[in-house]
Amino acid sequence: MIFLFLFFLEKKLTWERGIQKDLGLLCAGHLDPKSQLSCSTLKEWVAVESNSIQPVLHFRQELFRMMAMAADKLRRLGASVESRDLGSQQLPNGQSLPIPPIILAELGNDPKKPTVCLYGHLDVQPAQESEGWLTDPYTLTEVDGKLYGRGSVDNKGPVPAWIHAVSAFRDLEQDLPVNFKFILEGMEEAGSVALEELIKKEKDRFFSSVDYIVISDNLWLSQTKPALTYGTRGNSYCRSPVRCRDQDFHSGTFGGILNEPMADLVALLGSLVDSSGHILIPGIYDQVFRKFLFDTKEEILMHLWRYPSLSIHGIEGAFDEPGTKTVIPGQVIGKFSIRLVPHMNMSVVEKQVTNHLEDVFSKRNISHRMAASMTLGLQPWIANINDMQYLAAKRAISRVFGTEPDMMRDGSTIPIAKMIQDLIQKSVMMLPLGAVDDGERSQNEKINRWNYIEGSKLFAAFFLEIAKLHSGQ
Ligand SMILES: *[C@@H]1O[C@H](CO)[C@@H](O)[C@H](O)[C@H]1NC(C)=O
Ligand SMILES: *[C@@H]1O[C@H](CO)[C@@H](O)[C@H](O)[C@H]1NC(C)=O
Repeated sequence: MIFLFLFFLEKKLTWERGIQKDLGLLCAGHLDPKSQLSCSTLKEWVAVESNSIQPVLHFRQELFRMMAMAADKLRRLGASVESRDLGSQQLPNGQSLPIPPIILAELGNDPKKPTVCLYGHLDVQPAQESEGWLTDPYTLTEVDGKLYGRGSVDNKGPVPAWIHAVSAFRDLEQDLPVNFKFILEGMEEAGSVALEELIKKEKDRFFSSVDYIVISDNLWLSQTKPALTYGTRGNSYCRSPVRCRDQDFHSGTFGGILNEPMADLVALLGSLVDSSGHILIPGIYDQVFRKFLFDTKEEILMHLWRYPSLSIHGIEGAFDEPGTKTVIPGQVIGKFSIRLVPHMNMSVVEKQVTNHLEDVFSKRNISHRMAASMTLGLQPWIANINDMQYLAAKRAISRVFGTEPDMMRDGSTIPIAKMIQDLIQKSVMMLPLGAVDDGERSQNEKINRWNYIEGSKLFAAFFLEIAKLHSGQ
């Protein structure tokens, strides 16, 4: 009894001593690094083989089970939860598979408080122990403070970390510093089927009161120093088919009297990029300031984050087996993509690519047909790092980790940030929890226990900081 009284007294006093103490209390009592409890949700979630990549009914059922578990967890947190039925997905082979629901949840609706929305996904890439995992990918296994399991960092870990942070306030019967919303999907790895449509529909309803959107689905730049991500590259995927006729030719019968599509395609692909990675398409750097140096760490990161790159991926129709087949392919398709950076206009890039290829092709004086096109276009994303939530996150990082974050961009394409930012016109921030060596999508994916616990504290601190900044607005 006395203990309980002292505990509450301390809690009350501590609370009144300000934000720093609140945080200490929240974390000491409820997000204890030694607590087994903190990892039990993650363990349960990792155990679900919620593979969205392979279009198999069993995996879809697992995805449904995964989304139901998350909905249940949020309900127990006190949130009101809607599970949106999204119908089914028609696959190219005619098969139809149900799409797992998207969860929309909210907790608190005080108009005086800011509303922070977490986006997360609970589907995973496939994983099999035989592919080189040292532990069963679907049994969260701790080795030396590292929690191994498929989805542990991408993206099953960050979602319960956020929930722990919210429930710490709940458990202490503290007023929630912000209103919470959650949007959780189960098809991210498969291209976020149905997400865009749902967000459009919910723009004036669910999202109308959202002030800030947080995504925690990438990694830090280092093993120990936290990071904030404010930009990602886009991607435009192109194909350049060169066609002579449908059938292949024998090189003994036709070699020497034919313009060969493969030779033309190799010339086209060879005209795209030089050996130092400099893209040779006229005009492509018009919107980008670029220094062609690779000497320092900064320059390497600039090439990864701030400059476009062009990669050649493959040739459809080419002979790619071992052996010495002497066929002349009648038609081949070149495939390459350009990682786009902010201020590059995708339709301008498409025009530059097709003009360039047509130009190179026409100089070869041949009668084949070539029709370059862009088959997939994903925009780059950039956020304003002076937005209030970036400031709040920086303060929270400095409270929890005692350091400034790395302000980083990501060289890969994470379309969700740009999509949400464009559709609902609110500030989007990426606040990663995982360390650089966590191995998203690869074998032995993990999240460090330390990152998981400190990350939960970071979220709690972020809520307190954004509430404080917002009220002083
Ligand atoms: C991209 O360029 C096209 C064609 O010049 C133009 O119509 C369009 O408005 C541009 N888009 C943006 C976002 O600037
Ligand atoms: C293409 O034809 C033009 C004019 O007929 C000629 O000047 C040029 O050398 C030819 N180019 C090639 C690559 O054969």
